[in-house]
Amino acid sequence: MVVSLGPKRERPLLEVSDLVFAHDPGSGDRVPVRRADVVTQLNAAGDRGAARRVARPPVDHHAMLEPAVVDELLIRMHTQLQRLWEELRQGDLGVSLLKPLLATIRAAAPSGAPPLRVVDVGSGLGYFVRWATATGALGPGVELVGYDLNEVLVREARRLAAAEGLACRFEAGDAFALPGGADVFISSGVLHHFGAQQLPAFFAGQRDASAFLHWDPVPTYLAPVGAWVFHRARMRDPLARHDGVRSIQRAHADDVLLEAASAGAPAMATALHGLPNHRLPILDVIRPVIGVRPALAQPFRGALGPAARRLVPGAGSW
Ligand SMILES: C[S@@+](CC[C@H](N)C(=O)[O-])C[C@H]1O[C@@H](n2cnc3c(N)ncnc32)[C@H](O)[C@@H]1O
Repeated sequence: MVVSLGPKRERPLLEVSDLVFAHDPGSGDRVPVRRADVVTQLNAAGDRGAARRVARPPVDHHAMLEPAVVDELLIRMHTQLQRLWEELRQGDLGVSLLKPLLATIRAAAPSGAPPLRVVDVGSGLGYFVRWATATGALGPGVELVGYDLNEVLVREARRLAAAEGLACRFEAGDAFALPGGADVFISSGVLHHFGAQQLPAFFAGQRDASAFLHWDPVPTYLAPVGAWVFHRARMRDPLARHDGVRSIQRAHADDVLLEAASAGAPAMATALHGLPNHRLPILDVIRPVIGVRPALAQPFRGALGPAARRLVPGAGSW
């Protein structure tokens, strides 16, 4: 059952991590952020607690947030997100779909084809990319690349990968100007950062790939309560908790994701995987929207084995 639980809100739901870091869309360069502007936006959204916290960090003599303080905050928040992913076994979850998908793409490719390139969009600290590289869980013949708008997170992901001697790459760049040459685009916890009207453009940048798999929170009626309890228990930083709960509240409804994927990449067969029981949605936290080239849909379904039961087709012939 695909349901729409799309939020109808008068005030925007904001995440602090989106507000404290800004870049110039033309050059890609980081631009200074005025602390008072962030506070004003949070207050206007009725988010007074977050506004008070953002009013505390130091500013430079132009009243701009100190970049070093913002960097430290963002790395701390993402480190706590990584802990959550470890507990939710994000690696295994990702591999359970990605591995059969890669096998399907490989089976359809000519022999001697180069390694399959998987690009993780909005990779943050690159937990999935580093985990999959370290464990080799996707098998040989796979090149893993992390890609994120935020150069601070990209640098930290590179540092962590180097510390473990991992052969994966991290590049800085915008999800709306994706690099060519990827076989599969993936993401986790990124879709809700874009408004519903931006999503078709996001998917359009992936229409030449073989497939995409984007995991994001499931917006069930119990999710905000569950998210509050979970983030309260497992995250230390108040702003990390704040953004964690907001990300669940901002998550897109099932039909919004399927429609946006079809609008942006009309030639792809689309589906969701693992919809929760919307009457008692307590176990499912995130689910992916999937797009594959039409010829891959049925072989992928076959490669999923019993997990194919949880496939909820959108467009195309599955
Ligand atoms: C909630 S974090 C998720 C990070 C990582 N995927 C994870 O699961 O730990 C969202 C990430 O999306 C990145 N992001 C937001 N907008 C982006 C854009 N337009 N292009 C690329 N990355 C973006 C942010 O910098 C941030 O790292």
